[in-house]
Amino acid sequence: MRHVLSLQDLDQQTIGSLIERAVDMADPNRRGTPLAGRVIGIYFSKASTRTRSAFSTAALRLGGDVMHYGPDDLQVTTGETWADTARVMSGYLDALVMRTNGPLAQLREIAEASRIPVINALSEHEHPTQAIADLATLREHFGDLKGRSILYVGEGNSSAAALATAVAAVPGLRLTLVTPRGYGLRPQAIDAVKQFSQGSELIQEHHDIGDLPQGVDAVYATRWQTMGVQHMNDDWLAAFDGFKVTREMMRSVGGAETVFLHDLPAVRGQDVDDEVLDGQGSLVWRQAFHKMTSAMAVLEWAVIGRPVEPR
Ligand code: CP
Repeated sequence: MRHVLSLQDLDQQTIGSLIERAVDMADPNRRGTPLAGRVIGIYFSKASTRTRSAFSTAALRLGGDVMHYGPDDLQVTTGETWADTARVMSGYLDALVMRTNGPLAQLREIAEASRIPVINALSEHEHPTQAIADLATLREHFGDLKGRSILYVGEGNSSAAALATAVAAVPGLRLTLVTPRGYGLRPQAIDAVKQFSQGSELIQEHHDIGDLPQGVDAVYATRWQTMGVQHMNDDWLAAFDGFKVTREMMRSVGGAETVFLHDLPAVRGQDVDDEVLDGQGSLVWRQAFHKMTSAMAVLEWAVIGRPVEPR
């Protein structure tokens, strides 16, 4: 069963292939209709502008159909278990894409009961398909990821955890995460990334915004309160002082060719300045487009298991 719950469950070759296929899928002539006759269930318990639309359009453009479920639509709201829901859905659907409020363990329980692939469209601590889109954007732009360097600035959230894992799967790609103290990657994510990268020094995290790397190829920002979830302490914003990506920061860490990424939604003026988000080096709209091509690559692989065509 080809579930996509965490990138840490996939091997390096599969992650690399999904990135390559997501780049491929940007060309409508390279897509085909691998999902013809298939029905993809899409359950979102939280708001989404990109991921839900990306999976829906991906399934439709690959020839499939979609069923949508919102937070109040299933009998889980009246006490039916997710495992029983998965057993039932396995008779109707060919894959189930899920965005939940819950931990990865909840998705694992669902996947265990399921006879169809379950795809994580953002759980509490990981956003695997976001990272496929992120690296497909850079791979498309630079041609090759080897030797490239990414600076991630902001909360060590689910996008950061997935990005770190995806980077660990790509030989020669470097990632520095600069996160506010107390808002970094969870220890479990750090341990998992270390294990996945087999001790590689190419992925580093620290909390000193005054100590940014030089010569980076991409700067990646993120919303400071992921999914709009409020931080518990009232003075959390103080910890993010200096973490906004500005034109000055872009100049200080890179050059004219340095690009800007953001998983979106952005809080303009807080996590990034308009002139960076809307600037020449910004790839954020292309990155959002690649949410759809990454969804295509993931659906094709999970449902069909078709080997990725060589480029
Ligand atoms: N980046 C992302 O997951 O966007 P949505 O929350 O709009 O899906």
